[in-house]
Amino acid sequence: MTVLTPRDYVDAASFERERQRLGAAWTPVCRADEVAGAGAQKSVVVAGVPVLVTRGQDGALHALSNVCRHRGMTLVDGEARADAIRCPYHLWAYRLDGALAAAPFMDGADLGGCDLPRYAVAEWGGWVFVSLSPQPSPLADALAPLAGALDPAALAGLKVGYRLAFEHAGTGR
Ligand code: FES
Repeated sequence: MTVLTPRDYVDAASFERERQRLGAAWTPVCRADEVAGAGAQKSVVVAGVPVLVTRGQDGALHALSNVCRHRGMTLVDGEARADAIRCPYHLWAYRLDGALAAAPFMDGADLGGCDLPRYAVAEWGGWVFVSLSPQPSPLADALAPLAGALDPAALAGLKVGYRLAFEHAGTGR
């Protein structure tokens, strides 16, 4: 077990190590009914990384980079619903699974490798979880120690009833 020292709270290398660790773990990012129905899109942040959760036409969930491969514009701020992901800057379009679908005025350019990076995504108890690890352990395995304890809460049936957001100025560093 790693014990954090006072220095870890102000050390950049410690922060980055913790960020990597948190990003690789499964993180609950939203309720599944917040991305219900084909074309649903919701932006979230996982360990500092902008992620776009989408629901495909086949009902499958996807977790994608929320950064356009053209010039780095944020693709979706908040929520959207459409048959594709469209960048507001120069209108590149991606399928709901992240594949590049259109790149206006880029005829002749080699756009191989311009699909949106994909992350691991899974549902459990009505939650959508994302991991930035390329090969995370199965979500069910990660949650196994908790599953029994959480059964009485009937998580799958919960609905978002109220949202409370906090903002703070941070430390200025
Ligand atoms: S930055 Fe997205 S299309 Fe140009």
